[in-house]
Amino acid sequence: MAKILDVRGRKVWDSRGRATVEAEVVVGRGSTPLGTGRAIAPSGASTGSGEAKAIDARQAVQNINSRIRDGLRALSASDQAVVDARLIELDGTADKHRLGANALVAVSLACAHAEAAAAKMPLWKKLAGERRVALPVPQIQIFGGGAHAGRRVDIQDYMVICVGAGSFAESLEWTAQIYAAAGVRLAKRNALQGVADEGGYWPAFKSNEEGLAELVGAIADAGLEPGRDVAIALDIAATQMYRGGAYHLALENRALSSGQLHAVLMRWVERYPIVSIEDPFAEHDAEAMRAFTKEAGERIQVVGDDFFVTSAKRVKNANGACNTVLLKPNQVGTVTETLACWDAAKAAGFRAIVSARSGETEDVSIVHLAVGWGVPQLKVGSFARSERMAKWNEALRIEEGLGAKALPFPARKLFRQ
Ligand code: PGA
Ligand code: ZN
Repeated sequence: MAKILDVRGRKVWDSRGRATVEAEVVVGRGSTPLGTGRAIAPSGASTGSGEAKAIDARQAVQNINSRIRDGLRALSASDQAVVDARLIELDGTADKHRLGANALVAVSLACAHAEAAAAKMPLWKKLAGERRVALPVPQIQIFGGGAHAGRRVDIQDYMVICVGAGSFAESLEWTAQIYAAAGVRLAKRNALQGVADEGGYWPAFKSNEEGLAELVGAIADAGLEPGRDVAIALDIAATQMYRGGAYHLALENRALSSGQLHAVLMRWVERYPIVSIEDPFAEHDAEAMRAFTKEAGERIQVVGDDFFVTSAKRVKNANGACNTVLLKPNQVGTVTETLACWDAAKAAGFRAIVSARSGETEDVSIVHLAVGWGVPQLKVGSFARSERMAKWNEALRIEEGLGAKALPFPARKLFRQ
């Protein structure tokens, strides 16, 4: 049986120029190395309060190079579940703040890569085993706002889903056209302020709804039919605008009750080809989430990000709130707990989306998790900046490698029943 021979940590830098943690794990038999894996922890800006806690990157690296290395080298196995259980035990806190969720997630993912390398397989294949896989449907940001763009626009992500695309590659072809068309539209109107944290345009809109109208216009400008070819997904990231019991739309200089926000979102769902809304209400506003899911959940995905924080327990206790789970490994801290959340989502009859964070790197592990576990959707930000493109491009390579062995691309099945 393979075991862990070595664990190393180092400080590296992310897409916002902030320090983060890279881990390397070597597995082998006896003293012979069989495989090395490497992974980098991402970081969020609009984080949920229930997330596992990242700590100072330098301290997290020190923890990897001392307590985590000692604790894992004593293990007689390198299986993911055993390694992750040991990481959780070594940390010993509910929110992983002692060793740091950033230390844990980097080591956990690096271990997954090392196991795959020892088996001489890409990670997605090691995770899939004998199961056939499909490429996930991408949610791709065109405009960025909220905490990722100086709060110029309240809504955090205006995204597209190419619901009529026949392949992952075709989704990206269409998105490239939409992204370019959106840039031209904004530039013409003098509304282009730059690029937000995840690569979407940072727009100067007069209202949040204007973003929806502009997105529909960009899809049409790209020669595609809004709704039939390409639909809209939003991440309201509503926790960020919730203060004193109200939702503050700074751009429109007004505060809404849960009921008023519900009405605004329902009107948007009626007017625009929206198929998915993430965190429509704040993380603690479960009643509003339930009421919204009850009314809109038959038609659209109601996605819990801050609301579920990749916790299997929270998904099991959803009690009618949301119908789709966002899976972010660093929100919970280990690969095994992320998988448990996906299992809980399936058991609840929920959909799921594997997601990156707003602070990212060249690390492409999440693409392999999505493909290998059969999670049918993937969200990694926009169509610019290499920490985003690295992940889309990795998925393209996997799709090309699979060829006819891939299961049908699930976009039409998921969104055009
Ligand atoms: P975050 O944003 O990484 O800043 O939390 C991503 C999201 O809200 O989905
Ligand atoms: Zn979100």
